[in-house]
Amino acid sequence: MFGLFEPMKNIICKAGPKSRKIAKKDDAIITKASVPRERPTVLEKGKGVYLWDKDNVKYLDFSSLIAVSSVGHGNPDIYKAIKEQAAKITHVAGNDFYHENMPILAEMIANSMPIKGKKRVFFSNSGTESVECAMKLARYYTKRTGYLAMNNCFHGRTFGSVSMTNSKMIIRAGFEPFLPVVAHTEFPYCYRCPFGETDSNSCGRKCLDYIERVTFKKEIAPKNIAALFVEPIQGEGGYIPAPDWYFKELKKICSKHGILFVADEVQSGMGRTGKMWAMEHYNTEPDIICSAKALGGGMPLGATVFKEKYDVWEAGSHSNTFGGNAVCTASSIAALNFIKKKNLVRNAEKVGKHILSRMKEIQEKSKTLGDVRGKGLMIGLEFVKDKKTKAPNPKFRLNLMNACLNDKLLLLGGGKSVIRIAPPLVITKEEADKGIDIIEKNLKELE
Ligand SMILES: Cc1ncc(COP(=O)(O)O)c(C=O)c1O
Repeated sequence: MFGLFEPMKNIICKAGPKSRKIAKKDDAIITKASVPRERPTVLEKGKGVYLWDKDNVKYLDFSSLIAVSSVGHGNPDIYKAIKEQAAKITHVAGNDFYHENMPILAEMIANSMPIKGKKRVFFSNSGTESVECAMKLARYYTKRTGYLAMNNCFHGRTFGSVSMTNSKMIIRAGFEPFLPVVAHTEFPYCYRCPFGETDSNSCGRKCLDYIERVTFKKEIAPKNIAALFVEPIQGEGGYIPAPDWYFKELKKICSKHGILFVADEVQSGMGRTGKMWAMEHYNTEPDIICSAKALGGGMPLGATVFKEKYDVWEAGSHSNTFGGNAVCTASSIAALNFIKKKNLVRNAEKVGKHILSRMKEIQEKSKTLGDVRGKGLMIGLEFVKDKKTKAPNPKFRLNLMNACLNDKLLLLGGGKSVIRIAPPLVITKEEADKGIDIIEKNLKELE
């Protein structure tokens, strides 16, 4: 039976005939393993914060297509950089030969990061590869075999990263066994504190104490842990920020036990949270930072950045074919320059604050919007059946997302019943208001 605030009928996404035809063709050949596409929308082109589908329907994008298109869709600076580079050469096997984009970009990224002193950079093609690199580097440097990760984390789906990822069982079930020495500890998901605390500081404190008191005593000996992997704001898990003081304390625990601190900024980096790198909010210096998604300006690019002292591995010990691809690095350089030129980090902070405060107002009047949280343009809305019991309401979340899509607003799901708001960083306050109005209207109608 339907719960108290669940609508009686599922809201079905309306897509046009051209979209439906392509979606049908795709469903017949593309593996089912990819995320279930609940909406048959076929995207064709984009401009700024807007997207058009195959039937020429225009959408406002509140997702950046999984936090990638931060500089906006169809960005002319990116197009120019890609076109000019492609006319010269597309691929240079950057691990066998040199290409000037690689050191230029590496320097730009490294200089923007909250890691002091000299750094080294490894380029790859995706988030999961940037995590794999960090896992191998940490093991090579420390000569330890274990890893510590957080419950509800997402670090990718290749065997190393998926050994840590546990945001959803569907990502793990059937793929076991994983890397043998991976332990998980509690992340301060303060809305649903694993220790039942209602205050975020107490939640953070309990999670932190648990590491030394239980994780290191019962799960894994700290002397066996090469690195701790943590998302500064949990991403796929549902846009969950930790208390402001938390990472500084977490880093102290790592330093005490010789554990490298790896910040997975694949989703939170590149200005999304109102700082270039989310770790800057926490005044905490990671040993290694992983980046991808928005890094390539819409092209596939990953980077792992670390203190030079960890660069002890031998030449040829870790490498790849496409890392530092000429076109992807050209696009990334253009993206970084665009972010600076348009002051997008500041815009993310400003517009993000506006969205957060409007959503909090809406939350007060809503029966189902249990939590509103986030930093910059990385905002999570968590839907519940009842604000007291906090029972997750994934069906309501999906219906709301579909209803908004029918009203031409594209949203991103996350966690069990969270909507992630992650628009391109070029979004204006007026455009943000347009999207919030659509959420507010549909929320009221569905409740
Ligand atoms: C924090 C984080 N790390 C790693 C990944 C994996 O990135 P990719 O899908 O590019 O492999 C993701 C993807 O969502 C992510 O959010």
